[in-house]
Amino acid sequence: MGDSRKNVSQSRSSGNRPSGIQAGSLGGRPGPKRMSRKQREMRRKRQQLMAVSSILVLLIVILISVLIKSCGNDKKQQTDNATTPAASQPENQNGQGNQSQSDGQNNNQDNGQNNSGNSVQEKEYTGEDGKLHKVIGTTEKGYTIEEVDGVTYVDGVLIANKTYQLPEDFIPTNPEVPVTEGRSTKSLDKDLMTAWRQLQAAATAKKLNLYISSGYRSFQVQKTLYNNYVAKDGKALADTYSSRPGNSEHQTGLCFDLNSIDDTFANTAEGKWVNDNCYKYGFCIRFPKGKDEYTGYQHESWHLRYVGTELAEKLYNGGDWLSLEEYFGITSKYPD
Ligand code: DAL
Ligand code: ZN
Repeated sequence: MGDSRKNVSQSRSSGNRPSGIQAGSLGGRPGPKRMSRKQREMRRKRQQLMAVSSILVLLIVILISVLIKSCGNDKKQQTDNATTPAASQPENQNGQGNQSQSDGQNNNQDNGQNNSGNSVQEKEYTGEDGKLHKVIGTTEKGYTIEEVDGVTYVDGVLIANKTYQLPEDFIPTNPEVPVTEGRSTKSLDKDLMTAWRQLQAAATAKKLNLYISSGYRSFQVQKTLYNNYVAKDGKALADTYSSRPGNSEHQTGLCFDLNSIDDTFANTAEGKWVNDNCYKYGFCIRFPKGKDEYTGYQHESWHLRYVGTELAEKLYNGGDWLSLEEYFGITSKYPD
């Protein structure tokens, strides 16, 4: 439609004479002179049009290159944030890009592993969980330490020990049953529960009887427990087997105690089977035998922590259990 209208208009303005040569042949003023002027005019117009078009094309090319360059920079920035959070290190407010910095929210005593001699870098980014991740350092073994909502993660694994404390109001983030009580064997992590059912079924198939005797414990429940142990055995001894409030893994919903919570469990058929097989289901012996120096606690054959099968197998270490602290190169020590 647009094209045919244009042709009609051109035809009218030239008095229904489609071209200059034909006009000359109709007997008007001498054709060559008149047509030559017209041609010159048209040529000038064409040149002007071409000049304007060239400028426009040039402007468009410049605009596109600027846009491509700017997109490239954005993409690089995003990749850096997702894969190497500590790679492009902005200086902190004190202008100390390589120093760890306490932000008041962090309850940890040696966050950033300042004593390790490793380079400690800080950076904040929004994780896939939509939460603000603060990179607060690197462990002796080179794993990234992050803090999310006041909780410490090493290489993405939540850590609660004597060094890394939980906020008082922290509750399991992915519980199978919402947390409504201070103690619960049901408000444990959903993935843990799936793995637990598989572990329990495998044990049952071997005619072994496994059950969870202690699961989630709130800060307040742990406080009461710990204070009772301190009253009974004194602080120094209580600290070797019971966590202070905020330092217990039981507050995370990512661990449980099995069967009888005492040293006899290790020598039962159940205890032996758990020690040798729990890693296949993603659990580790959280306080392995002879690893008190690393974990800060006596051996607990009954306390299993869910870490997923990949890490659990590494910790199992062919039967010679490694503690999480050794594996990651982190400490478990109270400040006093
Ligand atoms: N028994 C372990 C260390 C706790 O109290 O969390
Ligand atoms: Zn326990």
